[in-house]
Amino acid sequence: MSWPDHVRAYIGSCLSEPLYRFFSLVPHWEIGLSTHEVSTLTYVHPPLAGRRAVHLTDLHLDRYHARHDRVVETIDELQPDWIFITGDLLNVPEGLPHLFRFLARLREIAPVFVTLGNHDHYSGVPVAQYAELADRHKVTLLVNQSTVISTGVEELVIVGVDDPSLHRADLRCVPPRADRRFTLLLAHAPNILDHVEAHHAIDLILCGHSHGGQWQVPGLPTFWLPPGCNGRVAGWHELGEHKLYINRGLGWSFLPFRWNCRPEIAVIEWTQEQV
Ligand SMILES: [Fe+2]
Repeated sequence: MSWPDHVRAYIGSCLSEPLYRFFSLVPHWEIGLSTHEVSTLTYVHPPLAGRRAVHLTDLHLDRYHARHDRVVETIDELQPDWIFITGDLLNVPEGLPHLFRFLARLREIAPVFVTLGNHDHYSGVPVAQYAELADRHKVTLLVNQSTVISTGVEELVIVGVDDPSLHRADLRCVPPRADRRFTLLLAHAPNILDHVEAHHAIDLILCGHSHGGQWQVPGLPTFWLPPGCNGRVAGWHELGEHKLYINRGLGWSFLPFRWNCRPEIAVIEWTQEQV
């Protein structure tokens, strides 16, 4: 990490908790977060055709709001086979019961796979505590780990790395290339695309972290992007053979408002052919 990024990450970690505590004095004051957008990503891959997954990121769920119920309702209607969440689950330890109330509701819909982001580490909650709570709620936490799901025709490998923006991602957990295997990589920050190498057999990478810039002023370029985005704001990005999708996420950092940057639920639909 470059020294300006070190400084920015340090400032971010110092500001995260005090700002959360300040805005928790007015807990219902949120702007631009009440409604979400559903993005559909199609991926041509006949062995998984007909399968559907939901991708969420950047929950920052320290307080359960009515909008979280609406997210659960939307996901329930989508009837996914799997739900993937790429970190920034919360900001402060007091968020744990609220976070796991949300995850438990998602777990009633489909298996849930989670990895960690920078704010999860800034919160001071030990990884072992996340792991223990995830176990208890039957949620799969992947921290530089992978798991295999058999879909009948081929296997789906889900790899979850620790936060790339804090340089905690260890790609040695990516399994080798194999026939009849689709490998999905869950990572919090977009800079993972600069770390994967040609030999990493990864079909699709899902991430968040950018919040889509969180505030988009018409006519102005994106002016807020945390370290670890490497200039990537949202949507599809490719490098070499690797393909990455950046989801704008559901929550907020530092200030409880979004501007022209609605929260996002992404749906991945595997198809037989290009639709
Ligand atoms: Fe975030």
